[in-house]
Amino acid sequence: MVFIPSNVACDCEMTREQELNALHDSIRECKLCPLHATRLNAVPGEGSSDAKLFFIGEAPGAKEDESGRPFVGRSGDLLTQMIESIGLTRDEVFITSVLKSRPPNNRTPVPSEIETCRPYVERQIDLIRPRIVVLLGGVAIASMVGPWSVSESHGKFFEAKGRTYFMTYHPAAALRFPKIKVSMTEDFKILSSELF
Ligand code: URA
Repeated sequence: MVFIPSNVACDCEMTREQELNALHDSIRECKLCPLHATRLNAVPGEGSSDAKLFFIGEAPGAKEDESGRPFVGRSGDLLTQMIESIGLTRDEVFITSVLKSRPPNNRTPVPSEIETCRPYVERQIDLIRPRIVVLLGGVAIASMVGPWSVSESHGKFFEAKGRTYFMTYHPAAALRFPKIKVSMTEDFKILSSELF
């Protein structure tokens, strides 16, 4: 399948869902950065093409790499719980990460990997057109809106490029620190009050 960059109009008859599927096929075959050599599966993301909430994490971990699905480990369980706490299901939102391939030993993504992967997440957002893009943790925040610390920015909305972003913690941090889990739960209440 052909990856259609966001600045090129599609003159074919594809629906948004078909375009999203075609994009995800391209991501599964992507060899644009060295991570393709060490990954088992690329992880494009999953959820509704009509999602009102679009979640962005950092990068796939071991379970995501094995299954090709985003947030299926312990962090994923917590994220699912938080989504359900505001009356939604995983199927109704869209979930992905800044990187679509697992970095070896779950190391932090490097800038060249983030830049190489960026057109994919940008195109996913443009196709889905969510009401709110939810940034989970420092890597997603820095890569989408700039170098803003999570502790200062969490629970806040930010308008840029015609999009509404909302910043909160990465669920992995909430699993490690009970206080962060409390703050993240409060952030989801703020998110919910804006959405409904
Ligand atoms: N953490 C992420 O940021 N993304 C995943 O898909 C899984 C864990």
